[in-house]
Amino acid sequence: DAVGTHVIAIDGPAGTGKSTVSRILADRVGAHFLDTGAMYRAATLAVLNAGVALDDTDSIGAVVTRADIGLNVLAGSSTTLLDGVDVSAEIRTDVVTDAVSAVSAVPSVRTKLVAVQRRAAQGSFVVVEGRDIGTVVFPDADLKVFLTATPEARAARRHQQNVAAGRPSDLAEVLNGVNRRDHLDSTRAVSPLRPADDAVIVDTSDLTRDQVVETLGALVRDRIGVQ
Ligand code: DC
Repeated sequence: DAVGTHVIAIDGPAGTGKSTVSRILADRVGAHFLDTGAMYRAATLAVLNAGVALDDTDSIGAVVTRADIGLNVLAGSSTTLLDGVDVSAEIRTDVVTDAVSAVSAVPSVRTKLVAVQRRAAQGSFVVVEGRDIGTVVFPDADLKVFLTATPEARAARRHQQNVAAGRPSDLAEVLNGVNRRDHLDSTRAVSPLRPADDAVIVDTSDLTRDQVVETLGALVRDRIGVQ
């Protein structure tokens, strides 16, 4: 805080609208935006590119430790770099999505990325989005929000995104995937997905995107005083 760091931590499972509202909120309050999921995805891409087996935790750790994972934290745009190459599109493919839980469960991967995240936030006003931001990365965050929604609501959103993007999508399969990732993310030994004790829990199942942004904006006004 001596260097002026203000952190808004936004955690929660996939499909709560977390990425979209975090970006909009960052824009609105004039903060940088840090998408930590993109970093775990870039780490996963490095592992896949190296041809390492997903149960070979030592090799996964070695690959990710060597990888240069960078994130553009400027408001408005966000680019993910792996060893200097823009991988923003590649990290959103199904191959990466299916492998990311295995890679993000490796302790040395988390240790490295948490350090990168803390460095990236140093001295600035940031909205940091992820799974363990309020619990592990920034336990002293000015504001911690945990976004939730029912699995059905989250699967429906993901399905709509797929359809809108012209990707083949089956709602029942998407729901299975949501439940599978929830289970992996919340039962892993290191940094399981859970709300921090002092997080504000916001259920987005029946809220529009704008209503969620309004809710978070009001919390930022109360806690940090910026509007
Ligand atoms: O938010 P996302 O879908 O882009 O995140 C991708 C994966 O990364 C997700 O399965 C959980 C993991 N993740 C994590 O373990 N810790 C974070 N702080 C952010 C993401």
